[in-house]
Amino acid sequence: GVGPWDECFEVAVQLALRAGQIIRKALTEEKHVSTKTSAADLVTETDHRVEDLIVSELRKRFPSHRFIAEEATASGAKCVLTHSPTWIIDPIDGTCNFVHRFPTVAVSIGFAVHQELEFGVIHHCTEERLYTGRRGQGAFCNGQRLQVSRETDLAKALVLTEIGPRRDPDTLKVFLSNMERLLHAKAHGVRVIGSSTLALCYLASGAADAYYQFGLHCWDLAAATVIIREAGGIVIDTSGGPLDLMSCRVVAAGTREMAVLIAQALQTINYGRDDEK
Ligand code: IPD
Repeated sequence: GVGPWDECFEVAVQLALRAGQIIRKALTEEKHVSTKTSAADLVTETDHRVEDLIVSELRKRFPSHRFIAEEATASGAKCVLTHSPTWIIDPIDGTCNFVHRFPTVAVSIGFAVHQELEFGVIHHCTEERLYTGRRGQGAFCNGQRLQVSRETDLAKALVLTEIGPRRDPDTLKVFLSNMERLLHAKAHGVRVIGSSTLALCYLASGAADAYYQFGLHCWDLAAATVIIREAGGIVIDTSGGPLDLMSCRVVAAGTREMAVLIAQALQTINYGRDDEK
């Protein structure tokens, strides 16, 4: 049957594909790079161009919907999730990769209604892989069903994380000590690929057993959370409690046992909240 948000989903897929074409082309061209909250928090004219395209097309089709988007937020727009249908958009996730031509770059489009995530679309632009997840309807990559890993033992886990934007000595100390704790627990490996959304898609695919991060944003999490849950995985807060999309932190894993083990091992880095900036 036809669900209430089918049209929104189809439009999201088309826009993620179009955005991917623009990003792929721009990847090889000269870029104008600016910094945002730190020297490692980058933005280019392509981030703006892609966000403007996605938001203006969606506004035309769905004039009553609300938007949370990375670059609008950086320019001062408030980041609040109401009960209205809301699009949560990262035009280029992995901007630093994009700047360096490191080929792990994605477009992420999430959609929530009544503060519940309905679907997520993530386009891995350089590999032309389209990850999708819809509440109650499973998660797919280019039409193939996704399934998370069933691993429960941290000593057998491949773990993904991202550094986050802050580089002050105190933040780095805790970041490195968290990684050290997982390595002491004999995790098979820890990987940093430079894109939160694609790391979360790898987790959804069963290509890694866990993910954690402090310092990411709701637009890094929204689409990926639906995809992971629909692939059978767990997305929770680093405290071990339920996920809070605005809390700038996350643990995700194939199994609840694994998610809890990771959460227990971590020391908190307080990045504040997306809805209090
Ligand atoms: C960032 C990347 C980075 C992660 C940050 C994200 P952006 O997204 O995913 O790897 O560490 O937390 O905000 O700024 O490239 O869209």
